[in-house]
Amino acid sequence: MNLFIPGPVEVRPELLEQMSRPMIGHRTERFSELYESVVQGLQRLTHTGNRVFVSTSSSTGLMEGSVRNAGSPVLNLVNGAFGKRWHEITLKNGVDADALEFPVGEPVDPDTVQEMLGERSYSAVTMVHNESSTGVLNPLEVAEVVPDDTLFLLDTVSSMGGVDVDVDSLGVDVCLFGTQKCMGLPPGLSFASLSEDALDRSENVEPRGYYFSYGSFCRYDEKRQTISTPNIPLMYALDRQLEYIHDEEGMDARFRRHARMMDMTHSWARGNGFDIYPREGYESRTVTCIENTRGVNIDEAIVKLRDRGYLISNGYGELKGETFRVGHMGDRRPEELEELLGVMDEVFREAT
Ligand SMILES: Cc1ncc(COP(=O)(O)O)c(C=O)c1O
Repeated sequence: MNLFIPGPVEVRPELLEQMSRPMIGHRTERFSELYESVVQGLQRLTHTGNRVFVSTSSSTGLMEGSVRNAGSPVLNLVNGAFGKRWHEITLKNGVDADALEFPVGEPVDPDTVQEMLGERSYSAVTMVHNESSTGVLNPLEVAEVVPDDTLFLLDTVSSMGGVDVDVDSLGVDVCLFGTQKCMGLPPGLSFASLSEDALDRSENVEPRGYYFSYGSFCRYDEKRQTISTPNIPLMYALDRQLEYIHDEEGMDARFRRHARMMDMTHSWARGNGFDIYPREGYESRTVTCIENTRGVNIDEAIVKLRDRGYLISNGYGELKGETFRVGHMGDRRPEELEELLGVMDEVFREAT
């Protein structure tokens, strides 16, 4: 099946091969070399000098970890399903939290955030950069309105590796993402850059658990090791992928390729009588959310595409049927997307 969903994504065969390399012990020098190499590659990708937490969990784990270590109260910015999930996670961990909600399809508005921050003092603010559920790319200018003594926690799960995010210039305290989206790898590992402020704040938070505790992470990071047994096969693949991104494709070319695939998908949608769901100027470059303005049966179209070997996604949650999504992230090439869009032409031409 050809995956054009917003993760997991197709994985290049050479990366899958890396995952079948012989196992090594995670308390060995060889492992520490691998750890060092992936951390350096991730720091370069995210433009940070901060420590990077390599976690054997999906990104939801690090979302949970980030609010367990952040103190209280927390302000969760919500304009879609993943922002909402972060608010739920925050509350379920017993942290006092407010949600600042924006209409779905609309971006987070920095001025409204600033107003809210003037009303109450927060220990941390969370924001999802690329809302995969609505295809909205939220403005990173929000970072500028977060006061110095408030941590800014950013989910870049479906943007990092496809869109440039300069963690240190923006002053992002925790920037988290995982392997199975724009990084072009199978699921199983996630990462979080942690600023000194985020680490300091966490020292006074109790209880903050064990698996995602920044204190435990730092103790092992000093030794260039992980808290518990990590997903070593995926670390091999990640190491190779970071080398590919930095030394072969190049970060800028990678970001341009993602933007080009967004343009191609927008042209297809407009050419086939559909609109783009998010507000203009805030469209995701990695997953396009198309508004079903023609009112066609999306489930049926998805099944027809599946029968021809291609998988795209219906709208998320309440947007099912009203929208549908095409993921164009990771190592997907424009030529491959062209092929999908050709098949979509045929399927949607006859869709009712
Ligand atoms: C924006 C965003 N945040 C968080 C997640 C959760 O990631 P995971 O499923 O890897 O835990 C997803 C997954 O689709 C996502 O798109």
